[in-house]
Amino acid sequence: MLNEKVVALLNQQVNKEFYSAYLYLEISNFYDSISLDGFANWFMIQAQEERDHAMLFYRYLLNNGIKVQLEAIDKPDKVFADKKAPLAATLEHEMYVTSLINDIYAAAYEARDFRSMQFLDWFVKEQGEEEKNANDLIAKMELFGDDAKSLYMLNSELAARVYSAPSLVL
Ligand code: FEO
Repeated sequence: MLNEKVVALLNQQVNKEFYSAYLYLEISNFYDSISLDGFANWFMIQAQEERDHAMLFYRYLLNNGIKVQLEAIDKPDKVFADKKAPLAATLEHEMYVTSLINDIYAAAYEARDFRSMQFLDWFVKEQGEEEKNANDLIAKMELFGDDAKSLYMLNSELAARVYSAPSLVL
């Protein structure tokens, strides 16, 4: 049996990851609306990855005999002032998700729940990548975003991103 507090946090994370997917779908939607289709593609794939994350938590709970409680997903409430704003919002959101993963890890550590700690290891590493990706996008937009030709190239680079399934298999 998994620890009750760890289960509650893992269950909450299913919802948080679906919210992340919803937020990135909204960002993709925003970039489509200003004709930056490469950025829209990048965030559409990001939304797919977040759905995968949600399903990994979901599957982990089921595999441990826990029935998942599905809760309402919040409406993405951000209004983006310009093409840079969603990138700052992404970094801020990923840092928040990192704090959530750390909280679950701390609860699992406290409960000597080594199985959940091992499961969460993948997410600890993944959050490092997510924050780096967000920082890289901000840096590229700062460098190239104000020049039309450079922005066109950056948009083309992001258009080339393709979906790949998560490396963690349960
Ligand atoms: Fe599910 Fe963007 O981390």
